[in-house]
Amino acid sequence: MTEFIHEPVLLEEVLSALQPASGGLYVDGTVGGGGHAEAILEASNPDGRLVAFDRDDLALAATARRLARFGGRLQLHRESFAGLAKRLAKASCDGVLLDLGVSSPQLDEAERGFSFQVEGPLDMRMDRRQPVTAEQLVNELETGQLATIFWELGGIRRSRRIARAIVEQRDMQRLETTTQLAETVERACPRRGARTHPATGVFQALRMVVNDELDQAQAGLDAAWSVLKPGGRLAVITFHSGEDRLVKQFSRGLAKPYTVRGGIDVPELREPREPLARELSRKAIRPGAAELERNPRSRSAQLRALEKL
Ligand SMILES: C[S@@+](CC[C@H](N)C(=O)[O-])C[C@H]1O[C@@H](n2cnc3c(N)ncnc32)[C@H](O)[C@@H]1O
Repeated sequence: MTEFIHEPVLLEEVLSALQPASGGLYVDGTVGGGGHAEAILEASNPDGRLVAFDRDDLALAATARRLARFGGRLQLHRESFAGLAKRLAKASCDGVLLDLGVSSPQLDEAERGFSFQVEGPLDMRMDRRQPVTAEQLVNELETGQLATIFWELGGIRRSRRIARAIVEQRDMQRLETTTQLAETVERACPRRGARTHPATGVFQALRMVVNDELDQAQAGLDAAWSVLKPGGRLAVITFHSGEDRLVKQFSRGLAKPYTVRGGIDVPELREPREPLARELSRKAIRPGAAELERNPRSRSAQLRALEKL
């Protein structure tokens, strides 16, 4: 059995946002390798409880072993965090963490198919029970659909050119591996000294579609909010600008002292109300220099945290 190692990002900052304490009930929607979970359980000694979720069976198995010493204080569920409100009563929790994105083992293990740096099947499923894989998307979507995904989720300027190259290539031979896809992208869009590989955005975009990440994140935010008590705190870590925008809009919407009729925020249409949340900091919190040096994968992480009023 290979070891499951994922270094938790912004750990101190998450603890200072959630302030775990004994007697509290906490939720980790993305338990992964259990780094944040362990710290929450330790900080809430001797009897704080943690209900944790992940869609990845390998992550859950590793976390169950790693955190076995906490016994009944930890509950693990192989489910999306989008459904966490089915497991927890309304207004019952003191803190919820969502650490969105992928874990290091998902990226590093070739057979998961998340990375173009190692040869593996084009899979990318976090939950391996689900039917849709990246291979199906790459071989079955139309040029326009692929281009839209690459543009909107991967931030790729030459998305149409890459989409056309993929379709031409698959007409000759079905694309089945990460390296076949990465080479097709590189041929269409040569690297020419750029720091990031042209396939970076393509892989990110496909992964987000395979796992329905933006819709899941929105559903997870709504569910997390409903289970928090007044005074409870929500901490969300994102690694993608689209996700951060979602979290920012969510927290700004709750923290505003007014609602807007028809969803358009012009002063004439505002109706005053008490804010429903307090943002713990106006700006997203990013890793400091020491963390960046220790863990380069934390470089695009951003944390936003808010308290329910
Ligand atoms: C960045 S890792 C979390 C790492 C974790 N905080 C730790 O300390 O090890 C993200 C994890 O979230 C999981 N995940 C992503 N989307 C999910 C969802 N909708 N529901 C449940 N888990 C999800 C992934 O499978 C992955 O294990």
